Amino acid sequence: MRVLGIESSCDETAAAIVEDGGRVIADVVASQVAVHAPYGGVVPELASRAHLANVAPVIAKALEAVPGGLDAIDGIAVTRGPGLLGALLVGMSAGKAMAWSRGLPLVYVDHLVAHLLAVYLQRGETTIETPEMPFVALLASGGHTAIYEVRAHDDVELIGQTRDDAAGEAFDKAAKLLGLGYPGGPMIDRLAKLGDRSKVELPLPMPSTKRLDFSFSGLKTAIARHVEKHGAPKDERDLADVCAAFQHAVVEVLARKSVAACKQRGIPRLVLAGGVAANAGLRARTTELATSVGVKVFVPPIASCTDNAAMIAYAGWLRLARGERDALDMTAYSKSPDLRRGKILV
Ligand code: KG4
Ligand code: ZN
Repeated sequence: MRVLGIESSCDETAAAIVEDGGRVIADVVASQVAVHAPYGGVVPELASRAHLANVAPVIAKALEAVPGGLDAIDGIAVTRGPGLLGALLVGMSAGKAMAWSRGLPLVYVDHLVAHLLAVYLQRGETTIETPEMPFVALLASGGHTAIYEVRAHDDVELIGQTRDDAAGEAFDKAAKLLGLGYPGGPMIDRLAKLGDRSKVELPLPMPSTKRLDFSFSGLKTAIARHVEKHGAPKDERDLADVCAAFQHAVVEVLARKSVAACKQRGIPRLVLAGGVAANAGLRARTTELATSVGVKVFVPPIASCTDNAAMIAYAGWLRLARGERDALDMTAYSKSPDLRRGKILV
């Protein structure tokens, strides 16, 4: 079965084709970074408009990868949320229209669940090792930061989450305060490698591993205070030191709590997901901590961590392959996820 996935929840318009077992045939992403960069963050109305302009070309490009184009597609999966409403509407309308006009089965996919399952995507020639279920997953992106126990694609439990900013949001806001561009994560990641974190004192936010919740808004204030007190970093070296200290503070709590979650649940498998999982410091530190206590870490390639439609197509394929379908008018579709602690996502 070949599934076309469509993603438009935030600032990436994406379409992908995935075959049985998560084999990625096409993966097209139109980034809106240039649209939002002048504002230092995503502007919802501009995102909707850019999705409108990009959605048809992106889908057409993905379909070029299969002989027969849309005729070779067996089902459609589209992100239904969470995300920006106007942005979601564009992808959903495109998916529904194609499903209706071609008589193809359609399923709506939860964006967060798709991130958690992106570790199963198989890209390129070599087959990557994937985790058995259950596994613990850290999902850290621009909009979400949470730890889950994933028992099956339709049995996911939230076990900890941020009380305020998401980790990616913290990276982006810190970068803005430091006069770096948008998105801040990749830039801070690059500079942090060159800096000395001991030169700048920043608190570890909510470091106790007894609680698996996070809080990153205080770190943003700490950076603002640092800039107030010492002025903007004078040169690249100064800047790199602040970035190293900031990245250490975020990474350390994410890594410690993710590994603590594995211990609490007695699960020796940890998956990193979401845009912040692209962070080199987070990958390295989590792997180091986890390995020391016998937990194996699975880190998907960066293209599978940041927003993409291949993960949507794969999450959709799991349901479509079992004969599940959602109604075009959305009167009957799988239940919305309930993000309260201990509740199960279905
Ligand atoms: O998952 P994603 O592509 O979109 C959302 O669903 O939010 O995540 C985007 C976020 C941004 O906040 C970006 O700054 C962050 O991921 N990010 C990073 C890195 N690459 C992207 N954060 C830290 N280090 C990185 N290398
Ligand atoms: Zn995302």
